[in-house]
Amino acid sequence: MLVVEGLTCRFGSKAAVDGASFSVERGSFVGVIGRSGAGKSTLLRMLNRLAEPSEGRILFEGVDVTALQGRELRQWRARSAMIFQQFNLIGRLDVLTNVLMGRLSEVPSWRSLVQMWPEQDRALAISALDQFDMASYAAQRADQLSGGQQQRVAIARALVQQPDIVLADEPIASLDPRNTKIVMDALLRINKHFGITVLCNLHSLDLARSYCDRLIGMASGRVVFDGAPAMLTDQIARELYDLEADEVLGAASHVPHGLPAPALAGVAVA
Ligand SMILES: Nc1ncnc2c1ncn2[C@@H]1O[C@H](COP(=O)(O)OP(=O)(O)OP(=O)(O)O)[C@@H](O)[C@H]1O
Ligand SMILES: [Mg+2]
Repeated sequence: MLVVEGLTCRFGSKAAVDGASFSVERGSFVGVIGRSGAGKSTLLRMLNRLAEPSEGRILFEGVDVTALQGRELRQWRARSAMIFQQFNLIGRLDVLTNVLMGRLSEVPSWRSLVQMWPEQDRALAISALDQFDMASYAAQRADQLSGGQQQRVAIARALVQQPDIVLADEPIASLDPRNTKIVMDALLRINKHFGITVLCNLHSLDLARSYCDRLIGMASGRVVFDGAPAMLTDQIARELYDLEADEVLGAASHVPHGLPAPALAGVAVA
């Protein structure tokens, strides 16, 4: 179980994340939602220790992750694999080598420099690519792939880290609708088939509702909603997203002027 207690990250006088507290059961698929600047990326980066908390604690299975240093910190970073909007692959290297990079924390660095990957790691990497229908691209340069394919390679790289938790920061923000579904399905597979906990920052509420079994809503650095997607009413969503609400709520919530608004019954629309 992941436990976050009063987690705060300040940049100067501004708190990007302000006293966030929640816990995440092993094996859940949690969506972190909220408008731009709400603190979603900073929260995920703190969990991976890419951003330094100013206050508060992160506990994973009883271990104080906030106190880890050196080798233990590097191990935690491998166990909490990050997936980014921009994929972060090394374009000039082939797909298989990019996935093998996920094994770096397990392999002495000289071996990776001379590209001497243990046979079992290569097999693991091919099998991870195969999970997402990408094994046939193993020898291709990463920069020759489409965005959706690159993100699937990044997810395979995360999988070979054998993480306890995957932290995905708007993994589909640069993708078209078809690739969005392919990549979200890949994350769902990581979660359901491998039982790996997934925390995923998402801008689209529709996606968050359909893929996540729990949502954490952030506004101005604070956790303002924490519950099942069904508990997130349109009214709460509007408060969370403020003026962006119509954009993230999707077409279903757009009601032409002058017509009754059944989907929004009981909601005060300004
Ligand atoms: N390195 C930094 N230095 C200073 N301020 C920062 C830094 N990183 C984030 N912030 C500020 O912290 C706040 C939260 O940023 P964050 O990137 O976590 O939001 P977000 O919810 O991920 O937004 P988006 O949906 O646009 O990605 C913002 O006001 C941002 O400007
Ligand atoms: Mg962000």
